[in-house]
Amino acid sequence: MLSVLSSLFVVGVVRITFESDQLFYIRLQQLMGLFSLLFWYVALIISPLTYIFGKQKLRHLVYARRAIGVSAAYFAILHLCIALWGQLGGPSELVRLPELIQTSLLLGAVATVVLLVMAATSFDAVVRRMTYSRWKLLHRLTYIAFILVVLHMWMIGTHVTYSLAQIIALSALLLLAGLESYRFLMNLDKKWHFIEGKGGAVLLVAVLLAMWFAVIVSIPRSIDNYHSKHHGGAHGE
Ligand code: HEM
Repeated sequence: MLSVLSSLFVVGVVRITFESDQLFYIRLQQLMGLFSLLFWYVALIISPLTYIFGKQKLRHLVYARRAIGVSAAYFAILHLCIALWGQLGGPSELVRLPELIQTSLLLGAVATVVLLVMAATSFDAVVRRMTYSRWKLLHRLTYIAFILVVLHMWMIGTHVTYSLAQIIALSALLLLAGLESYRFLMNLDKKWHFIEGKGGAVLLVAVLLAMWFAVIVSIPRSIDNYHSKHHGGAHGE
């Protein structure tokens, strides 16, 4: 309910703020894309955080996780519709767009489909029918889709060319990667008992984190951002 009400509020505020329809649609779809990303990030980080703080302390967040995931899907749909029909002129215009933008939209579209499947299977009845282990397997797709959306955002996002946005994105991605690495190692250790004490765990997480850092900072070097390529970055940086 909060997501639906805040989306209506945002439409009103952006309409009042931007007179030109073009700016109204661009700013609105950017905001809806950002909200979808933020809800998705929170939905992803809850599980690994329970390995640090315990499920009991985070029980309200754990309980709300599915609703947070469904909100991510809701804002992704709003983002897609406003971008496609408000900014890009409808599906028939997609063929005229530069290849980099088409590829980015395809990655975004695949991520949207995955988010919708996650949202549609977020009900107890569906989990029971699918069995928990198959449901869990299906919901692992969310990690692949999240990587696709990070690439989507890097390839055509405007604000990702700001240095501050890049520092925030890098820190947030490293935090998530570090926590997921810790959870992964703890689950492996339950089976193989190879980690020597807290020091051993910290060392292994640090190694994995260095690997993730190298992967994340290689994105701008190996994949173009449309605005940097054509306009020398949103601010001529
Ligand atoms: C789960 C799916 C998606 C998420 C979370 C998402 C998120 C985002 C974010 C955060 C940005 C950067 C905005 C900025 O720089 O201010 C962006 C850019 C963009 N997205 Fe998506 N997106 C998704 C799917 C799609 C789809 C399916 C389409 C269209 C068919 C689309 C169209 C666009 C466009 C046109 C931009 C460029 C906006 C600009 O000019 O800065 N996105 N997206």
